[in-house]
Amino acid sequence: MKTNVLITGTSTGVGFESALLFAKNGFKVYASMRNLKKAGPLKQQIEEENLDIKLLELDVVDPASIEKAVKTIIANDGKIDVLINNAGAGMAKPSEQASKAEINWVTDVNYHGVVYCTNAVLPFMRERKQGKIINITSVGGLVGQPFNELYCAAKFAVEGYTEALASYVGKNFNIDFTCIEPGGIATEFTNSAVAATMVDGQLATGEYLPIFEKYLGGVQQRAEEEEVQLYQTGLEVAEVVLKVAKNENPPLRIRTSAWAENLCQLKTAADPDGTKLVNQVFSQFL
Ligand SMILES: NC(=O)c1ccc[n+]([C@@H]2O[C@H](COP(=O)([O-])OP(=O)(O)OC[C@H]3O[C@@H](n4cnc5c(N)ncnc54)[C@H](OP(=O)(O)O)[C@@H]3O)[C@@H](O)[C@H]2O)c1
Repeated sequence: MKTNVLITGTSTGVGFESALLFAKNGFKVYASMRNLKKAGPLKQQIEEENLDIKLLELDVVDPASIEKAVKTIIANDGKIDVLINNAGAGMAKPSEQASKAEINWVTDVNYHGVVYCTNAVLPFMRERKQGKIINITSVGGLVGQPFNELYCAAKFAVEGYTEALASYVGKNFNIDFTCIEPGGIATEFTNSAVAATMVDGQLATGEYLPIFEKYLGGVQQRAEEEEVQLYQTGLEVAEVVLKVAKNENPPLRIRTSAWAENLCQLKTAADPDGTKLVNQVFSQFL
């Protein structure tokens, strides 16, 4: 039987590209999205290229929809080999100016969703003592950046959650955990973030506004000037995800570009892929 994979957030971007790339590389893909009305482009590719991709409805903040999707996969295949927690959403806004609903939303989508999906698949992976859980975090999961504190905090949470699980679930049940840490990716991400958090045409107000404008200008300028490529394509990141999924001994963490590596170096220099850390934590506590 083929290796199967459940991917969250496949309507666009990295999730969309990963679904196609994994299917083209011999995986049976369960491509999930919260709104199947957005499945048009993926359906077209599936038909044109006759790909082994099944579409599933799954909203990462709705545990009932996750359970339903996982049940379908288990009923079909009796197993889940790989889970890719890809769904996520950005937010660049001073936290002081974020509403309670916005604070909850960014944490739910980026962190709680990962926990709900992981909890839903772990019993089936533990039973077989086999599986891989790949979490798409961000350089923002290692380095706090201006105006991204709520997003970064949620991605830091995913990094800590993954490290902790790797230290005892990983080692005792033969399940591999990896955080994939991209820098910028040219996807719908920024547009969605702006649309979700703009209030009265503004993302920041008052004293924060000039600092926010400086920040946005700087991001743009660096993208144009730097010799190191800041923005990757969704496909370039998907290629790293595929490499990790095919690796028999995958790293705890991996950056996806030279730019991302550079930004995180002060945090990662002593243990770039996290292997030493997981081993140390395991031997210290268990
Ligand atoms: N783009 C970047 O610069 C960047 C950098 C570092 C890390 N990342 C991370 O990379 C991952 C993929 O992002 P991307 O760049 O591919 O952005 P994207 O094109 O905006 O894709 C995000 C995906 O997540 C889905 N999603 C949002 N909320 C969801 C929910 N409640 N349930 C299920 N799916 C949901 C979106 O679905 P809808 O179409 O329904 O909204 C979309 O399919 C994210 O985890 C992101 O945090 C992105």
